Amino acid sequence: MTIPYPNIQPVPAITPVTPPSGAPRPRVTFLGTGYLGATYAICYAELGYEVLGFDVDADKIAKLNAGEVPIHEPGLDELLRRNLAAGRLRFSTDISEVADFGDVHFICVGTPQRADGMGADLSYVEASVTSLAQHLTRKALIVGKSTVPVGTAEWVEQLVGKHTPTDLGVEVAWSPEFLQEGFAVDDVLRPNRIVVGVKTEWANGMLYAAHKGVFDLAATEDREVPLVVTDFATAELVKVAANAFLATKISFINAMAEVCEAAGGDVTQLARAIGYDPRIGNRFLQAGLGFGGACLPKDIRAFQARAQELGAGEALRFLHEVDLINLRRRTRVLQLAADLLGRRSGPAGPDFSGTRIAVLGATFKPNTDDVRDAPALAVAALLAKSGADVHVYDPQGTENARRVAPELTYEASMNDAVTGADLVCVLTEWADFRNADPVVLGELAAGRKVVDGRNCLDSTLWTQAGWEYRGMGRP
Ligand code: UGA
Repeated sequence: MTIPYPNIQPVPAITPVTPPSGAPRPRVTFLGTGYLGATYAICYAELGYEVLGFDVDADKIAKLNAGEVPIHEPGLDELLRRNLAAGRLRFSTDISEVADFGDVHFICVGTPQRADGMGADLSYVEASVTSLAQHLTRKALIVGKSTVPVGTAEWVEQLVGKHTPTDLGVEVAWSPEFLQEGFAVDDVLRPNRIVVGVKTEWANGMLYAAHKGVFDLAATEDREVPLVVTDFATAELVKVAANAFLATKISFINAMAEVCEAAGGDVTQLARAIGYDPRIGNRFLQAGLGFGGACLPKDIRAFQARAQELGAGEALRFLHEVDLINLRRRTRVLQLAADLLGRRSGPAGPDFSGTRIAVLGATFKPNTDDVRDAPALAVAALLAKSGADVHVYDPQGTENARRVAPELTYEASMNDAVTGADLVCVLTEWADFRNADPVVLGELAAGRKVVDGRNCLDSTLWTQAGWEYRGMGRP
């Protein structure tokens, strides 16, 4: 028997509401068309909603309107073209058009780490909410989706109050998203839960209507999507708590990797063995170069900063360790590289001058072109800083990587990167690298030495092909 969670807060009942535009289903807008907003806009059109996507970046909007997805996300191109053709989906840079069109406005702008500390930069949230609110001429619901410090929804509500006449009755709600890049389409169409933070029955009804497409799809596939209706603060916290948990799980297994390295154990077998316990589970237990991306690293920092402000800093002190364990994995790759190349480390780390190193992977994980806070690119830059001639290949991330780390040499293929290399570092587990033939690569490389930064290669196969192999947390 499962024991239900006690319902601490009285939740508003879901009462059917009529969208203020008079349309049968709420018309939805998405402000910000990055990895989050573009995916949501396109998938919501696929669910049958009338959708308008907004961004201040005219280039991005022109591309989207021309049927071109500005990011790499599997499955999204086809959905974009189909829904543009169906006339359900448009993109605009005109905020007054957005205000006119929408019943429910989803705020999907970025909340990066502040330049001056660990907290989140809310300037994009402020700018998008303010300009939208200033243009609203009828009742609407503004829903935050961006990952934010707890308390932001209340602040957004005040902001909206300041910029809209009270008689319009514009309301605010918060509904965090949990999509993972690389699986984003499915995560939006088939989420494992929907969380909404609301204050009124109207907002709850409106948000229910704005998610009905998701519930209906689930019903046709004989699934259920759990709905958690809660208050603003809890809804905001759910998101950062989930990401903090995932980051902790990854750092836990990477801490075990460190111990395995010292004790001569194999963390991949350890992970498999503990993962069979359903209370632990085997997902997000892949030891390696650690977590990166635009979410996990900055979210655990912003969470600590906010907890500190609230006087609960001690509760999250462990997240500082989670961060440090994660960052230590990058240095570990350098140690393994130095070990394989017979380079000694001085106080400034190893000296790789005179060596050529192939780095396979630049993105923070496979199946994306996203290089934000990518461990692979960070390690490539560290290797170059230590004197190595670094040649990078990534199946999708080269264009973005070149912008972030122009000092590196980028190659058009895996073979080009490996040719003449004294050492190969596999730092993102793209299928192309996992399935690469070590015999073929061995003929191209100058030295058969490989660091498997993601424990994604078949070490037996590579060793048999004459490679000296080093994994993470493996003997
Ligand atoms: C993460 C969360 O997984 C999503 O649920 C959340 O919605 C999203 O952040 C967000 O806040 O928007 P994402 O950043 O796309 O999604 O990437 P993840 O799949 O979580 O991977 C993050 C990093 O952890 C990657 O660098 C990956 O290589 C690394 N990782 C993941 C490991 O090192 N080991 C693992 O076992 C799993």
